[in-house]
Amino acid sequence: MVETPGFKAQSEVVISGAGLWKPEHIVSNEELVKSYNAFATRFNEEHATAIEQGEVQEKPLSSAEFIEKASGIRQRYAYVKEGILDIERMRPKIPRRPEEALSHQAEIALNAARIALDAAAKTADDIDMVIVSCAYTERSYPAIAIEVQSELGIKGTGFDMLVACSAATFALQRAHDAIAAGSARAVLVINPELTSPQVNYTDSDSHFIFGDVSTAMVLEAAETCTSDHSYTILGSKSQTVFSNNIRSNFGYVAYTQDIDAYCEENLFHQNGRSVFKEVCPMAVTHLQEQIEEVDLDLPDVKRWWLHQANINMNLLIAKRLLGRDASAEEAPIVLDEFANTASAGSIIAFCLHHQDLVKGDCGVICSFGAGYSIGSLVVRKR
Ligand SMILES: CC(C)(COP(=O)(O)OP(=O)(O)OC[C@H]1O[C@@H](n2cnc3c(N)ncnc32)[C@H](O)[C@@H]1OP(=O)(O)O)[C@@H](O)C(=O)NCCC(=O)NCCS
Repeated sequence: MVETPGFKAQSEVVISGAGLWKPEHIVSNEELVKSYNAFATRFNEEHATAIEQGEVQEKPLSSAEFIEKASGIRQRYAYVKEGILDIERMRPKIPRRPEEALSHQAEIALNAARIALDAAAKTADDIDMVIVSCAYTERSYPAIAIEVQSELGIKGTGFDMLVACSAATFALQRAHDAIAAGSARAVLVINPELTSPQVNYTDSDSHFIFGDVSTAMVLEAAETCTSDHSYTILGSKSQTVFSNNIRSNFGYVAYTQDIDAYCEENLFHQNGRSVFKEVCPMAVTHLQEQIEEVDLDLPDVKRWWLHQANINMNLLIAKRLLGRDASAEEAPIVLDEFANTASAGSIIAFCLHHQDLVKGDCGVICSFGAGYSIGSLVVRKR
């Protein structure tokens, strides 16, 4: 086993490459609603008597128009589409792979990682740490990060992190700190957000929210950076405040509880209205403090790569920060194409909307979500 070598502390840490990989399958709102409504109608017919007697709750119908208006989502990508729209199944049919084969999540992690490494003009030999950070991992161990590390031939350390929607920003902060402290020369942070297995496609409130995607970033010391587009990290900030308003209860203890491990309470559910009301002001205060801490003023920020859970949240947060509506260029939205991709949302926004910035332009990557957790990094183009 090769141990992580010690390196010298660094005062300037940069993001030198970013990668976005999206699955080939798309599920539109219309397709999703058609299948959910067929499921709900059949459920209501089958349980008509129990519903009448108040023993079973009627399933409300869903609407593509509501989904777009309430969330900004028009479609989502699915790693595996088969099964999602099948009203006999209502979940993707992801084939089980043997232990010797590459895991699904490592596969999509690698897809994004390779793009980020290319963008940063780095090879495996340059990287000392791999962090796979996302809302869910496919298994407990060995870490997906170690599998990815092995596939890429990277020496040093790999570990998984789970911080729900803030997994990416929190991992970027860990990567920054490792390079600044001298414990790694360069770090590969990957967010393989395989969210579809945790979606309750039989629940009108949440069946439309999530999509699958994978993103990655390379961080390194400024002195080794040769990439075409690189960003000095001026500061990073994270905070958590406990809340029960967004939960996913599935876990290994379910085995001991004599329940269906995949029952409704164990899948993703939230109190969306409360999340909206509570998280928006928290994110605004967090960002105001963060900008002040790095000695910038709010108008100095050219681009806000915000978390992508709900378009109305982003519009509200940007308006509170700027005192006016933000333009689509200032605070890009990717929800229409990708839906909520847990921690990857702000990284997708960065991947698709950073190359036009010029030297000296500042931007903020910010996530907010379950936990609650809020994470942000202020960066300046070099
Ligand atoms: C989930 C979310 C899009 C729902 O939007 P909303 O405007 O709050 O919607 P509500 O749940 O209050 O429902 C409003 C109405 O639409 C209805 N509705 C809910 N889902 C529906 C659907 N799929 N189709 C049609 N109507 C629907 C409700 O029944 C309700 O009807 P009522 O007014 O007659 O009671 C929104 O709350 C949200 O995105 N919140 C933040 C979520 C978030 O960031 N989560 C982080 C996850 S990591």
